[in-house]
Order: sequence, then structure tokens, then C-alpha cells
Amino acid sequence: MPSRKIVVFDAYGTVFDVAGAVRQASAEAGPLVADWAALAATWRRKQLEYSWLRTLLGAHADFAEVTAEALDWTFEALGLNDRALRGRLLALYDRLPSFPEVAQALDTLKHRGFSLALLSNGTPAMLKSALAANALQDRFDAVISVEEAGVYKPSPQVYALVEQRMAVTRDKVLFVSSNGWDVAGAARFGFATVWVNRDASPMDRLPHGPNHIIPDLARLSVIA
Ligand code: LAC
Repeated sequence: MPSRKIVVFDAYGTVFDVAGAVRQASAEAGPLVADWAALAATWRRKQLEYSWLRTLLGAHADFAEVTAEALDWTFEALGLNDRALRGRLLALYDRLPSFPEVAQALDTLKHRGFSLALLSNGTPAMLKSALAANALQDRFDAVISVEEAGVYKPSPQVYALVEQRMAVTRDKVLFVSSNGWDVAGAARFGFATVWVNRDASPMDRLPHGPNHIIPDLARLSVIA
């Protein structure tokens, strides 16, 4: 038996492609927005900033609200004022596509006897919707939302939810995320970590780097 028993995945950017909403909206709306790439990047950056800031402020709001507020800031920054596009982007965010290798990677780990869990900033409703949109709802033994802690990653209270919900100690957990700051939080908590560096990004200058780096989830079974 492997000494690790559970593989825990981040959701957005790791299992689900956060660029998918803007990609689909741009295919539908075309030249409506001059710089779709700026919209996608600013929206994501602001969404994460707001999650961190709300945790520091002690002013939690769920990820659906934070995601909408980040989009509103982005629209104003880019001079956009289109209620229909705003609604469409938020609807698409609830059914983001998964990356193409995800289902196979999960199945491989499952066949090898690992329990699989999702640990995400997303609300239970957002995660349920995105999993269903990709027919992944039966792949995970547990779907854990930060809403159970009322704070966002990388607070240690969030990673502690895995021990509470899965009845395991942290040394039995392999945590997988495409977000370097999330890897840092999980590693600091005591999980073994894998950074999925999909974009060949530089490594975050944070304490507690990853134990392993892979370009996508297809390589995960070699490590776990
Ligand atoms: C999540 C964010 C960090 O799914 O992507 O928790």
C-alpha cells in the first residue's frame, strides 16, 4: 500500500479551466470586447485578491459573490457596461470545462486505490454545477468547500478541513494545485504537494515550494 492514501485537488485552474468562460463568451460575442485576454487575466487576479483580502479583513463573502464583484471591477476598469455579457460570463463560470486529461487521471488514481477529494474556494453549488457539467460528479469521494471554514485559502483552517472530513492525518495527503500560492499553503500545513505548472510560469517566491512539478495531470500517476 502506498503511504499516502488521499489525493486532494484544487478546483479552479487545476481541474477546471478558468479561461473557459471568457473563451466561450468571446466565441459568441466576438469584437464586443477589445481585449478578451485582459478581461480573463484581470478577472482572475482580482477574484483571488478579493478572496485573500476578505480573509484578512475578517469579512467573508462566498466565492460566487467574490467572483461577481471581481468581474464588476474588471468591467469598470476596461470601460465595459454590458449586463447581458456580465450575466453570460457568470453563467459560464458555473459550468467551466475541465482540462482534457482530468477524467483519465482521476480514474487511474482511483483504480490504484486512492481516495480523491476536491478542496476549493468555490461554493458547494458552484462546484456541484461544474462537476456535473463535466460528468465528474462521481469521481470524488469528497467535495470540500472553504464555506465550511468561512475563510479562503491559503488559511490553514481550509487545509485542516481535509483532516476533519476525511479522517486522515496530513502526512497521508498528496495535494495537487496549479496555483503556486495554494501549493505553499498546503505544504506549510504539512501536505506533500504537486504543482501543476500548466503555463510554464516562474516559481512563486514563497516559503514551502512544491515537492513535485508536472505540466498537467496526466503525469500525476507517476508521482502518487
Ligand atoms: C480554488 C481556487 C484557488 O479552486 O482556484 O480553490
